[in-house]
Amino acid sequence: MFNIAVAQSGGPTCAINASLVGVFREALTEPEIDAIFGSVNGIEGIISNHLVDLKSMILTNDDMELLRQTPSTVLGSCRFKLPDYHEDDAPYRQIANTLRQRNIGAFFYIGGNDSMDTVQKLSAYFSETGSDIRIIGIPKTIDNDLCVTDHTPGFGSAAKYVAATLHEITRDSTVYSIPSVTIVEIMGRHAGWLTASSAVLHRMGETAPHLVYVPEAHFSQERFLADVRQEMSKHKAVIVAVSEGIEVPEGVQSGVVDNFGHKYLSGIGKYLESVVRSEIGCKVRSIELNVMQRCSSHLGSKTDIDESEAIGAAGVRCALSGESGKVMVFRRISDMPYTVTIETADAAEVANCEKFLPEKYINSAGNNIRDFALNYFLPLIQGEQHLVMEHGVPKHFAIHESVLK
Ligand code: F6P
Repeated sequence: MFNIAVAQSGGPTCAINASLVGVFREALTEPEIDAIFGSVNGIEGIISNHLVDLKSMILTNDDMELLRQTPSTVLGSCRFKLPDYHEDDAPYRQIANTLRQRNIGAFFYIGGNDSMDTVQKLSAYFSETGSDIRIIGIPKTIDNDLCVTDHTPGFGSAAKYVAATLHEITRDSTVYSIPSVTIVEIMGRHAGWLTASSAVLHRMGETAPHLVYVPEAHFSQERFLADVRQEMSKHKAVIVAVSEGIEVPEGVQSGVVDNFGHKYLSGIGKYLESVVRSEIGCKVRSIELNVMQRCSSHLGSKTDIDESEAIGAAGVRCALSGESGKVMVFRRISDMPYTVTIETADAAEVANCEKFLPEKYINSAGNNIRDFALNYFLPLIQGEQHLVMEHGVPKHFAIHESVLK
């Protein structure tokens, strides 16, 4: 018998708790696995030996169902970069101590590309130091920018929210007789997947979003103004979807960076709003979808939540088969009918690697998404969850904050 530990890392999503449920539920069925620990604030909890006993918190099937529908990371998160262990092995020794002391034979890390860097480094360290502790990565990120996997858990729900919200914004912006421009700022650091997903509205016969700007296409302010003017000549209300990560003049964004050197992006929508106001002078509004696009579980994709649980469960089976240093990935077999399989990849292939929107998905003007590309997005946003509600709002599963302190 041995114990396992699971942790969540990086930016929240609507599906990261579903993957935790996948690990938990699958581990419950394995007679070899005894305690299931949750590490508080990602790898930081392992380093500081801050673990919680999940079996004493997730007591019933109803608890698991509630956790599945709860957005964000129930165990907290972190943006922690492990040093190269050849240069500084102190955190590695602390991690090894915690895992040994708690008789943990397998550790599951649910996270994005930076977290897969941790999976790679830790598994290499354990292999070099002769430890048989298994380290498995379970992907997640609304950015959908992980290499090897067809898509990432969390992306489908965020994409569904973005598309549905753009649809609603479209209805709202067309009410007045005066011309207007509405700019919607969407997350996705260097990759435009989430912004591009707004274009699924075209399949519903909408002309909006009329303009879609992603980081993969060169952005020029002059070109943007010309595009807006051209769309205004055709439509009373012009809707623009813009990725937070497009190239902007110095100073528009804060310049603050996290432990991985990633910039905190935000502000491009406001900036473009001011450009339209001063250069075109029409009614203009910018909307930053901000954290709502990654935590709006009331509009979660059932496909995404189901797949997120399944990939967590597959991670447990992978560890039990003796693997380590692997990341679970989706391989798409077909769009219609939508079929995927869950496979494994070496963490080294996924760590610190970003997958960008294919050039062929972007139109030749660099300001919208081609129609055929929507076949990629549409299956991922299908299905609705039947949410447990309380006092008229979706109920959440939470661990008391005093336990997480
Ligand atoms: O994890 C991805 C992401 O949601 C990005 O889309 C966004 O730029 C970033 O995280 C925001 O980071 P934070 O959660 O630290 O504000």
